Amino acid sequence: MDRRELLRLILMSSAAATVMPTKAFGNVLKYNSMSKLDFGPDFKWGVATASYQIEGAHSIDGKGASIWDTFTHEKGKIKNGHNGDVSCDFYHNYLEDIAILKSLNMKVFRFSASWSRVLPNGTGTVNQKGIDFYHKIIDACLENGIEPWMTIYHWDLPQALQDKGGWVNRDVIQWFSEYAELLTKNFGSKVKNWMVLNEPMSFTALGYLIGYHAPGKRGFKNFLPAVHHTAYCQAEGARIIRKNVPDAQIGTTFSCSHVEPWKDEKRDGKAMERWDVLLNRLFIEPALGMGYPVESLPVLKGIKKYVQKGDMEKLKFDFDFIGVQNYTREVIKKNGLIPFIKGMEVSPKDRDAKEITEMNWEVYPEGIYKIIKQFAAYKGVNKIYITENGAAFPDVVANNAVKDFQRVDYYQRYLEQVLRAKNEGINIAGYFSWTLLDNFEWSEGFKPRFGLVHVDFETQKRTIKESGLWFREFLK
Ligand code: GAL
Repeated sequence: MDRRELLRLILMSSAAATVMPTKAFGNVLKYNSMSKLDFGPDFKWGVATASYQIEGAHSIDGKGASIWDTFTHEKGKIKNGHNGDVSCDFYHNYLEDIAILKSLNMKVFRFSASWSRVLPNGTGTVNQKGIDFYHKIIDACLENGIEPWMTIYHWDLPQALQDKGGWVNRDVIQWFSEYAELLTKNFGSKVKNWMVLNEPMSFTALGYLIGYHAPGKRGFKNFLPAVHHTAYCQAEGARIIRKNVPDAQIGTTFSCSHVEPWKDEKRDGKAMERWDVLLNRLFIEPALGMGYPVESLPVLKGIKKYVQKGDMEKLKFDFDFIGVQNYTREVIKKNGLIPFIKGMEVSPKDRDAKEITEMNWEVYPEGIYKIIKQFAAYKGVNKIYITENGAAFPDVVANNAVKDFQRVDYYQRYLEQVLRAKNEGINIAGYFSWTLLDNFEWSEGFKPRFGLVHVDFETQKRTIKESGLWFREFLK
């Protein structure tokens, strides 16, 4: 009987079952012989979160609007008309949530600051209540033996800055610097692990090229300047951290996916290379001093228009670590009708992928191994943290439990592949699950649930899922 068949049987039998101890499940899935110790004594285990997705409290205590507050209130932008006004209300529930995190034996809490909570207009007047809120989170982490890891920017640009063009306006370098100065000066004495940006490719492409995310802008005339200013801020933010927190470990994070050609190695292979630029190479290469990968994706040549004298030097920064964020793989097929990139992703359903998540992403554990190898091959990438990895499945609460065995299986198989890369000598120093709580999944609303902890968005009740219990056992 193969693993999948075994899993199916467990899922069927669990529908009627009451709480099945994690141990018993571990015994059933005999293939998982991994132990926390295999990753080494210094390996960091934690979860990753993002301000807009969990905080709620969108307009109280002096917070200004962000582009996500605006976008979610526009008709038709978000599935089911959902928004993050309240979400998990982490703003009020953070003590309970950090206590849960501790109970899962996790030692790192990765979170982002909301720019418009601390600078309601993006620049200028500081909102002290916002600063106080992040102090409270940081203190609660430290009191519970959890390291706070702060991301400066996870997609929620102040609306006041978007009104002036947002990432398309070169002034964003000044605005972002002011914001990074504020965070590092206020929190640098307590926070020693920093990430500048979360997934620059995602927010520039989804927000400024195809308009699927806030602020909903489209076209290369928006995308190319946004890319350049973002790449600039990626390094500038890091320089500011270095200056204000000299003992900090500094990184930035990238969304990345192993890419493969659909059928014809040669024809689809060319399209795959272009996608690889967009998905994996666009932001790391300028940071490493390699410039933009224009040769492999000619449309990027247009970026020159926005590059001023001396800029290319400024894109470089010697990051202490790179945050790899991976969920799936991408299979690419040539398609001449698609402008510029002339290729498309073949959806998992169209290629008969066997396991597909709520996000319509294929479960492909080996993909994380392959993408780690790809990133580790760059000269200048010396240390990697997996700063996000996880899956959304349709979870159900029954008898006060969530039997998310599919997610347990996902984590085990992805972790095996992380370990495989580590055992081959790659310096992987930690793994953060996406994510602690079910939360607002951007344009998909609340339907995809990624949490180790189930959230009832009506009552704010938290229920630790089987996957959370699995981590608790594993990290004991
Ligand atoms: C990442 C993003 C997170 C989260 C996750 C799951 O790209 O950084 O905010 O949404 O994907 O979709």
